[in-house]
Amino acid sequence: MAILVTGGAGYIGTHTCVELLNEGHDIVVVDNFSNSHRESLQRVTEITGQTFPIYAFDLLEKEELARVFEENDIEAVIHFAGLKAVGESVEEPLWYYANNVISTVILCEVMKNYNVKNLVFSSSATVYGNPNEVPITEDHLLTATNPYGRTKLMIEDMLRDLCLSDAGWSIALLRYFNPIGAHESGRIGESPNGIPNNLMPYISQVAIGKLERLNVFGNDYPTEDGTGVRDYIHVVDLAEGHCRALEKIQTSTGVEAYNLGTGRGYSVFEMIAAFEIASDKLIPYSILKRRPGDVAACYANPIKAEKELGWKASRGIQQMCQDTWRWQAGNPNGYEENNILKPQRKPPVLNKAADLFMPASK
Ligand code: NAD
Ligand code: WQD
Repeated sequence: MAILVTGGAGYIGTHTCVELLNEGHDIVVVDNFSNSHRESLQRVTEITGQTFPIYAFDLLEKEELARVFEENDIEAVIHFAGLKAVGESVEEPLWYYANNVISTVILCEVMKNYNVKNLVFSSSATVYGNPNEVPITEDHLLTATNPYGRTKLMIEDMLRDLCLSDAGWSIALLRYFNPIGAHESGRIGESPNGIPNNLMPYISQVAIGKLERLNVFGNDYPTEDGTGVRDYIHVVDLAEGHCRALEKIQTSTGVEAYNLGTGRGYSVFEMIAAFEIASDKLIPYSILKRRPGDVAACYANPIKAEKELGWKASRGIQQMCQDTWRWQAGNPNGYEENNILKPQRKPPVLNKAADLFMPASK
């Protein structure tokens, strides 16, 4: 029996593949490499000493997906595959709805056809929108402030409807806060395309000298030092959370949402200071005005995951920064250098989606 990992070549996917393999699971990876590199999966093998089937296609390709279920004995799916850049989703909403929402419809349809009804889904704290209060519990109002967030919300709604329609399904909606860090080997980590949007990859590229200085987006928030506060979580803690969620769904039915965060928020200035210690580099910065759409503070109440999944984040902020730095220093250009395949940024998915969305038998 194997776990199908969609988007397994990506940042969180690779770390989860390592933990799954280390815990004795067989895995199968599907990825279209639109935002990742084949090299990342070679490094998963390097770290774990294990090989596994890799299928390179777009999840919108229903027949290809059915072939994976035909050729492997899949017991559960961890569904990471998705586009995740907020700004890009505002510019290209249809691409995001097709790639994220329609592909999940297709995935669930194929799973249903093969009677595989255990699913762990990558949701996000973005479904809490501009939170009314922190720390955020799972029963906080759900809303979206951009098309990316709306895809997560739509998928959550769809999965809740699916569970209502058929009690055989068991689904965990994992709402990640801000994943950072890298595997302690320094061999896998986050390898963003172009100039990073997120704080931690930006800081680490300043530290390595690829970017000149960090722009701090606002120092006038109602927070302790005026900069934005977030719940940064080590990606290996997050990966372990998936293993615990997998155990949970295999012994229960229905749908549950879990916050995967540490419960502690750090400001931008605190993150700069922590990274300077970890890297022994100075991070020059300028204060700019607030970034549109940003919230002042966002951090989790992680108690539900602790109680029901037996999972709690254990790695602190210094380890998150040290591991990020080890990865960045050892791989200044991410996976780029070792890879002949450049990520293909805009796959022409819409025609395919229209064709493949037709209900089809297996
Ligand atoms: P990532 O971009 O590194 O990984 C996603 C992977 O999915 C990539 O390898 C990409 O090539 C693949 N993919 C995308 N669309 C696909 C498709 N249609 N068919 C096949 N493969 C496809 O992103 P990540 O940071 O590892 O995030 C994984 C998941 O977690 C995403 O769904 C993301 O929305 C969610 N998430 C991420 C964060 C974050 O800050 N990293 C926070 C909350 C939620
Ligand atoms: C963190 C803090 C910025 C960059 C985003 C998505 C969210 C989720 C995770 C997937 C904020 C500040 C940032 C910079 C800065 N992804 N900052 N200078 O905005 O919490 O979340 O990624 O689901 O959906 O919105 O993360 O890392 O971009 O920002 O000052 O160059 O750092 O203002 O306070 P965010 P982030």
